[in-house]
Amino acid sequence: MQIQLAENYGFCFGVKRAIKIAEENKNSSTYGPLIHNSKEIARLEDDYQVGLTDDYKFFKAGDKAIVRTHGIQKQELKELLEMGVDVVDATCPYVTKPQEIAQQMSEDGYSVVIFGDEAHPEIKGVKSYATNGAIVVMKPEDLEGMKLKEKVALIAQTTRKVENYMEVANYLIPRYKEVRVFNTICNATFENQDAVKSLSKKADVMLIIGGKNSSNTKQLYAISKDNCPDSYHIEDEKDLDFSWFDAKKLCGISAGASTPDWIIQNVIDAIEKKIN
Ligand code: F3S
Repeated sequence: MQIQLAENYGFCFGVKRAIKIAEENKNSSTYGPLIHNSKEIARLEDDYQVGLTDDYKFFKAGDKAIVRTHGIQKQELKELLEMGVDVVDATCPYVTKPQEIAQQMSEDGYSVVIFGDEAHPEIKGVKSYATNGAIVVMKPEDLEGMKLKEKVALIAQTTRKVENYMEVANYLIPRYKEVRVFNTICNATFENQDAVKSLSKKADVMLIIGGKNSSNTKQLYAISKDNCPDSYHIEDEKDLDFSWFDAKKLCGISAGASTPDWIIQNVIDAIEKKIN
């Protein structure tokens, strides 16, 4: 069986940047998981003494707090600074952008609609910047019966599928006088998604490696599954079931934007050892 990696996979620019920032700030704590990968978080703890704090109120004056890739809420950032905490911002610039748009559009009198998952830290953060509030939707039907202003600004979670985003935009455009659609979906997501689409069309088994709570990994898995029914979402080599590879010719591999290369390599090594 041949193993082929997708043309683009794994760590994106924002995650690489956040990890570098964490490595440069030993003896600090991230507020919330820096990225959605528990194993990489454990490595940062072991090798760089970068801990994890789930409640920002635990930080004290003089502590160093690293703001995670997905960003935090505006009010929390303000409180951390007021508490005298040394804040190191590792928010991905592609997440800072929709935060700024939400604030600007809200102040300019637009109804702000965010396409994304309300429970995701990124969206909680982006929403908090809309000075006059924002509506978070997952599909066009969520907008039915809503009373919005004549001017609407639409923002997407960075990891969303563009096709689904367009459905929401298409719902709004004929109903409102002015609809400003911001393409805040990040290129890294496009690149990994495009690559998984083409690879899953030719592979007869696909592995998508990434944290079980990583939304972009779940999306890669969904795309892969559409084209290749034998697609599996695994966190690392321990999740492998070698019967998946019986009578298979091409195993395609991709990984979410928070998956480090060393985990991907461990998976490849385990398969090669067992199969070939
Ligand atoms: Fe940033 Fe895009 Fe990665 S938003 S964290 S570069 S997936």
